[in-house]
Formats: sequence, C-alpha cells, structure tokens
Amino acid sequence: MGTVTIAIAGKGGTGKTTLAALLIKFLKTERKGYILAIDGDPSSNLNLALGLELKETVGGIREEALQEVQAGGGSTRGISKHDWFEYRINQALVESPRLDLIAMGRPEGPGCYCAANNIIRAVIDRLGDEYDYVVIDNEAGMEHISRQTTRHIDYLFVVSDPTLRGLMAAHGIKELVRELGPHGTRVSRMFFVVNRVNGTLPEMFQQKAAEMGLEPLFALPADPTIGEFDMQGRPIIEIGVDAPIYQAVRELAIKAGL
Ligand SMILES: Nc1ncnc2c1ncn2[C@@H]1O[C@H](COP(=O)(O)OP(=O)(O)O)[C@@H](O)[C@H]1O
Ligand SMILES: [Mg+2]
Repeated sequence: MGTVTIAIAGKGGTGKTTLAALLIKFLKTERKGYILAIDGDPSSNLNLALGLELKETVGGIREEALQEVQAGGGSTRGISKHDWFEYRINQALVESPRLDLIAMGRPEGPGCYCAANNIIRAVIDRLGDEYDYVVIDNEAGMEHISRQTTRHIDYLFVVSDPTLRGLMAAHGIKELVRELGPHGTRVSRMFFVVNRVNGTLPEMFQQKAAEMGLEPLFALPADPTIGEFDMQGRPIIEIGVDAPIYQAVRELAIKAGL
C-alpha cells in the first residue's frame, strides 16, 4: 500500500487548519499507520493545533542556504545541495508518536533561490513516501500545493464558509484543479466542506452548491468547544471525541472513504 495524500484548500479563515487537525486526530484514533503533517500555510500554526513545538521551517532553511551560497560555501561545501537540504529538512521534522510535522514557513522572499525549491520539493516528496498518510494544510489556492509537492492528491477537501461568496471561492478552486489537469497537481477525489454551519444548511444553499458542481458537500457545525480551546491555547487535536465538531469530521472522513 502506498501513501494516502490528503490536502485541505480554501479561503483563509474558513477552517482549514481546524479540519486538518481533526482529520489527523481521526487517522490517529481510528486508523493504523504513520502520519506526516505538512504545514503549507505560513500563517496557520498547524503545530499549535497539533500540540507540537516547532523549531524551524523549510523556508528558514532555504534562507540559510541562500546565505551560505552568498558567503561562498561554508557548511554546504563538499556535499550535494540535495543531501544538504535532506539533512537539514530532517532536522526540522518535529516527531511525535505516529505523527510528524514539517512546516514550510514563508515562501521565498525577494532573494528568490528558485533552484532550491525544486530540491526542497523532491526532498519533501520523498519524505512523504515514508508515511502511510500525508496531510497538507494549505494556503488559499492550488498553486501553493503544486509549489510544495508533486504528490498525487488522493483526497482534496475544499473548505468554505456558509456564504454564497464562500461557495464561489470553492468553485474557483474546483475550476483551477480542472484547468491544471494533467499539467499540475493531480487530484483523485474532491470534497466540499461548508464549515461553521449553525443548524442545517438551507435547501437553497445546497441547491446552489449542487448547481456549481460542489459535490459531495459536507457541513460541519459551528462548535463553541473550538473557541474554548482557542481561548485556553489548547491544541485542537485534544478535543474530546464526543465534541460535535469531531463527530462531524469523523463522519465526513468515513463517508469520504478514509
Ligand atoms: N466549526 C467551527 N466552529 C467554531 N469555530 C471554528 C470552527 N472552525 C474554525 N473555527 C475557528 O475559526 C478560526 C479560523 O479557523 P482556521 O482553522 O484557523 O482557518 P484557516 O486555517 O482556514 O485559516 C479559528 O479561530 C478557529 O478556531
Ligand atoms: Mg490555516
């Protein structure tokens, strides 16, 4: 069995990181195997949601490499760039029982070191192969996913808030995936997730989503437990299995076939 790759996309603030953490909780609780979490959003702090302490990011390592090159070699001399990145990225890996985390950090700044990005992507791709599940918490769009990995995405969850504008943003991502098609990141199954729903989704909203081809559609409840955890700085992954939000994510994961 190969690695199952799961990616979460959607507008900022819709609940991507929350969903990523809860899907990881589901995999840890109810499935076997090892999980690699990739924090692909520089402003997301997936590590906090997972209760893991982050020391460095891949972006920081790329900066370090750039400075090394500008300084004329130093510690990178004598070994291939690939080996150097592999070594440093392994150092940046945060390990915990059955769950490791790598944070991509900030994308390249003005001194873009583009050759490094290809090496980094190859290293991250290979790293992922060592796990049963790779879960990527992404920044807004698909282009970010392609920049970070060439992995085939088995499950893409597109998260939206319960507004028409949210649906339109989700539709935009769907279109992008279709357009990128064979040239970009390949996606096997796409699911749409409307998060922070109070009560049930209005019939009209569901109809609209269906018209846009946003199916299968899952609704996740607004759950005050999340706010409590946020306020107390507690990792979302520690939320009780009987919390409505976890129950809903669990059901979603099972229906999606995870
Ligand atoms: N189902 C939910 N119920 C209540 N609060 C939520 C829910 N999902 C997310 N939140 C809160 O909304 C905010 C944004 O969620 P987050 O997962 O960080 O979004 P994103 O990663 O898409 O930017 C956070 O403060 C989070 O705690
Ligand atoms: Mg986030």
